Amino acid sequence: MNVREVMSATKVIPVLAFKGVDEAVEVCGALVEGGIPVLEITLRHPTALDALEAVSKALPQAIVGAGTVMTPAQAEQARAAGARFGVSPGLTPTLAEAVQAADWPFLPGVSSVSEAMRATEWGFDALKFFPASASGGASFLSAVGAVLPQVLFCPTGGVKPDNAADYLALPNVPCVGGSWLTKRDADGRIDPAVVTDRARAAGQL
Ligand code: 3PG
Repeated sequence: MNVREVMSATKVIPVLAFKGVDEAVEVCGALVEGGIPVLEITLRHPTALDALEAVSKALPQAIVGAGTVMTPAQAEQARAAGARFGVSPGLTPTLAEAVQAADWPFLPGVSSVSEAMRATEWGFDALKFFPASASGGASFLSAVGAVLPQVLFCPTGGVKPDNAADYLALPNVPCVGGSWLTKRDADGRIDPAVVTDRARAAGQL
């Protein structure tokens, strides 16, 4: 599966930050039940790699990837844990080289035209636009589509149910990413039933 196929499998890639393995398996199950097949588990917690491995095993029907991949070492660890794709908020020459050498489906982050041009020079034609709201939102991607029509974007960062449709209406945006599906309640918990409802609503976008 290449990264464009990952993007076209869903309208929304949930950006996930779990505090432990059990929470990850339970909440990812709720997302899949709500119809979301692609899961991005960010490497923002010491248990993230264990969570990635456990979720991949528990939900073989899901396409589980790693987010917040910043270094070649993290890319290698995430791949070893079973991540079928990787996402980064940015891109460095060493990271580009490592993921290309491993032939690992990868969505590097950009927030400017020059960064997008450089990413295409390195062979990436599907990019994360991050942080989307702070960097110009849907009107930025609309303008970029005129000069880089071959590049697809997954905007994340400030994407919410009330603005996701603006992005998804663009021809260069097959999917958006965001953390809203698994927002914690006042007690810091993620309610699986609420997650399934939000996932079903996201499927209607
Ligand atoms: C990301 O890593 O893509 C962002 O942290 C997600 O941004 P959001 O929390 O505004 O959805």
